[in-house]
Amino acid sequence: MTPRHLLADDDLSPAEQAQVLDLAARLKADRFVERPLEGPRGVALIFDKPTLRTQLSFTAGVAELGGAPVLVDGRLAGIGEREPIADTACVLGRQVSAIVWRTHGQGRIEEMARWAGVPVVNALTDDYHPCQLLADLLTVREAFGDVAGRTLVYLGDGANNMAHSYLLACATAGMDVRIVSPASHRPDPGVLARARDRAAETGGACTVTDDLAAVDGADVVVTDTWVSMGQESQAGERKGEASPFVPFRVTADVMARAAAGAIFLHCLPAYRGVEVAAEVIDGPASRVWDEAENRLHAQKAVLTFLLRAASGDGA
Ligand code: NVA
Repeated sequence: MTPRHLLADDDLSPAEQAQVLDLAARLKADRFVERPLEGPRGVALIFDKPTLRTQLSFTAGVAELGGAPVLVDGRLAGIGEREPIADTACVLGRQVSAIVWRTHGQGRIEEMARWAGVPVVNALTDDYHPCQLLADLLTVREAFGDVAGRTLVYLGDGANNMAHSYLLACATAGMDVRIVSPASHRPDPGVLARARDRAAETGGACTVTDDLAAVDGADVVVTDTWVSMGQESQAGERKGEASPFVPFRVTADVMARAAAGAIFLHCLPAYRGVEVAAEVIDGPASRVWDEAENRLHAQKAVLTFLLRAASGDGA
């Protein structure tokens, strides 16, 4: 059986995304109800970039699903450097039931998925962060009872992995997603086209603009660091007072434009006074701790979904 993967947000159909979110909610209510990794079966967790939440939530999550998390240090493994990615994939696929990988280019994880023979989960690449989006959508559902028809506005670097994942995952969920960024940092046109195709299917909508009026009436306001992992050498120009992102900082004034009862989300790590004001992330609209907890439940759900699909059981 050809395994299913989560490499980008639109690898899940709208119905499958809803199924994963339902399962995540069920796992949150009853933490040990699914045991697809009973054995314990191993899941490789590989990090080529820094991590806190992702390593923590996958380690705990795999154990809670009855499995054994197998941590692989990407710096020691040197995947694609010491040996071809395909060779690493073939070795891993003989020993573990799934592979979770945080890495750089999307092509690297696609190559892993091509050869592994087991489900591969994107734990963040330069292009996407689909696990974070499942956690965010679960948080939106908890706040409002639904996701379809809600408006989510992302402010900041419109060209990064989070902006791309918001476009694809929110369009899949039937949301109105708006990327508010400087013209110099817009989403990849190919990703935007895929998101618009999805929105046409689900009744969602996708907008890219530099006009803060896009925040007016929004249900969810989100942002992300202006300096993603791998961009550290550009930190001065991205964070300084001449940064193109300064007009898109999430302040109390920006939040005041959103709907009454709007919530604020941030994937973390957050930089107070840079992309978000402390009074917003530490204020009453913030749901960032629920969002961080929901990584655990959402990732357990997606692993369960992919493992069932791999065994031909109820996919
Ligand atoms: N855009 C950020 C997300 C961190 C979770 C990064 O890639 O570093």
